[in-house]
Amino acid sequence: MTFKYPDAEMWLFGAWVVMSCLCLVQAELYTAITDLEDLLDTEAMFMETLDRYIEREEKKIERLKRKADEYRKEHALASSDVSEYLSNPLNAYLLVKRLTTDWTTTESLMTEQTSLDEAQHNFTEIKRFMKFPTDEDLTGAAAALIRLQDTYDMDTSSLAKGELMGVKYTTQLSASDCFELGRQSYNSLDYHHTRLWMTEALARQEQELRQNSNKTETPKWEILEYLAYSTYMEGNVKTALDMTNELLQLYPEHERAQGNKAYYISVIDKESNNKIEIEEVEQTNAKPFDRAPTEKELYEMSCRGAVSPPKEIQAKLKCRYVSSSPFTRLARLKEEEAYLEPRILLYRDVMYDSEIEVIKRLATPRLKRATVQNFKTGALETASYRISKSAWLSNIEDEVVARVSRRVEDLSGLTTETSEELQVVNYGIGGHYEPHFDFARADEVNAFKSLGTGNRIATILFYMSDVAQGGATAFPDLKLALSPQKGTAAVWMNLHANGEGDVRTRHAACPVLAGSKWVSNKWLHVVGQEFLRPCTLDPTV
Ligand SMILES: *[C@@H]1O[C@H](CO)[C@@H](O)[C@H](O)[C@H]1NC(C)=O
Ligand SMILES: *[C@@H]1O[C@H](CO)[C@@H](O)[C@H](O)[C@H]1NC(C)=O
Repeated sequence: MTFKYPDAEMWLFGAWVVMSCLCLVQAELYTAITDLEDLLDTEAMFMETLDRYIEREEKKIERLKRKADEYRKEHALASSDVSEYLSNPLNAYLLVKRLTTDWTTTESLMTEQTSLDEAQHNFTEIKRFMKFPTDEDLTGAAAALIRLQDTYDMDTSSLAKGELMGVKYTTQLSASDCFELGRQSYNSLDYHHTRLWMTEALARQEQELRQNSNKTETPKWEILEYLAYSTYMEGNVKTALDMTNELLQLYPEHERAQGNKAYYISVIDKESNNKIEIEEVEQTNAKPFDRAPTEKELYEMSCRGAVSPPKEIQAKLKCRYVSSSPFTRLARLKEEEAYLEPRILLYRDVMYDSEIEVIKRLATPRLKRATVQNFKTGALETASYRISKSAWLSNIEDEVVARVSRRVEDLSGLTTETSEELQVVNYGIGGHYEPHFDFARADEVNAFKSLGTGNRIATILFYMSDVAQGGATAFPDLKLALSPQKGTAAVWMNLHANGEGDVRTRHAACPVLAGSKWVSNKWLHVVGQEFLRPCTLDPTV
C-alpha cells in the first residue's frame, strides 16, 4: 500500500528541496551515484544557458560587424578625396553624427551586458535550486579516485589512460585533470600521490603538445613546482633540485623557486659535509612483504582478489537447497556456504527485481550521508572511512519492506521483532566502508543503548545491484571477498552463542571501482532470540 495523497507528494517534494539545500552546504554529492545522476540534469541546464548566451552574443557580434562594415565603407569613400567629401554639407553633418550619437549607440551595443547578466542570473538560480557540487565534493571525488588507485593497486599512467584493472574504458584524463588530482593530493599533504600525478601531468602535457591538442591551461613551470616539492618531501633532494633548475629555465624570476633552489643546495651540501650518503629513494610501487601484512593491506588484497581462503577450507564448502521455517514464503532456498567458521551463508535470488525497484524508489529521496557511532559519546557522525549514502525504511511504509523482514526471519531462523529498520545504502565513486564490526564491543558502552534490545546478533545483507568492478564485501581475517550479485543475501552471526562478539566477522565494503552499488541490510538484535538461538557458555559456538 502506498500513500499517494497530493499533500504527501507536496511534502516529499518540499523535503527534497530542503535536503538538496542541505547538500549544498554539506558537500557530499560524490558519495552516492544517485546524486551524481542529478548532477547530469544540472549540467544540462548549464549547457542550455550557455548555448542561449552564445547565440545572443553571436547575434550581437553580427550587428557590430554590420556597423563596422558601414563605417568602413563610408570612411573609405571619405578618404578617397577628403576635401571633395567634406565640401558636401551633408557629409560634414553625417561625419559629426557618426562620431557622436551613432558611436554612442555602437559602443553601448558593445558593452551591453544583458545576456551576460541574464546567463549569470540563471546560473545562480540553477545552483540554488538544483544539485550542485562544492569544492568539498571535488576534494572527496579526488580522494575517492586515489583510494581506488591504492586499493586496486593501479598505476598512475594506466589509470590516466582509462584502464581500470585491465579493463579499458574510453574516458581518459588530460594533463589538467591529472594536475588537479596532484593538487588535491598536495592539499591533503599526500606528497606520494602529488608526485605520481604531477609526473603524469607532465607526461600528458608533452603528449598533448605533440598532438597539438593543447588542453592545458596550467603552465609547465607550475607542474614542476609541485613535482619538485613533493619529490623533496619524499626524500629526493637531488631530483628536486634538477626539477627546480628546469623550472627556473622556464621562469627565471620565480622567487619561491629561487629560494627553494638555494635551500635544496644547502641541504645537499650539509649532507655531503656530514658524509651522509644521499640515498635516492627507490621509487617503486612494489611492496614485498617481509612481515605479516597489516589489516589494511589484507583488506585491500581481499578487495582486489589477491588473496583467498586456504584451499582446505574452500574444499569443504557446500551448496544445497533448503526448506526453511514452516512458515516459509519461499518454496526452497538456494543456500551456499561462503565460509564455515564463522559460518557465512549466501542465498541466491531471495530479493526480486520488482522488490529492489520499490526499495530503491522509497529510499532515494531520503538518502543521507551514512554515519558512524562515536564510541565514546554514542553520537552519530560522518567519517571518511565510511563513504556512502543511506536511508532507513520501516515495515509500515510499504508491504515490500515488511515482506523483506519476513524473509529475513526465514533466512536466519531468528525474529525481526527487535531488529533495526531496513537500512538501504548506495555507494558512489570509491564509496567504501573500512573494516569494522557490526556488533558493539564491550568498551562501546553507549552503542545501541537507546534501543534497549541488546547487541547486534546477526547481519543479513542483501545485494540490490551487480557491480561492474569492485564493491565486494571483504572479511580481511578470513581473506574472503563476497562479490555483489543482484538478489543475493549474505547472512552471518556477529555474536558467539555466549553473547560475545565474534571478531572473525570483521568486514569491510570494498570501494566501488566501476558501477553503482546498492545494498540493504537488516541487523537483528539479541533480545527476543532466547528460544530461537539458546545461549551457551561455550565460547566456541
Ligand atoms: C534564463 O531563464 C529564463 C527563465 O527560465 C529564460 O527565459 C531565459 O531565456 C534564460 N536565459 C538564458 C541566457 O539562458
Ligand atoms: C599551450 O599551453 C601552454 C601552457 O603550458 C600555454 O602557455 C600556451 O600558450 C598554449 N599553446 C597553445 C598553442 O594553445
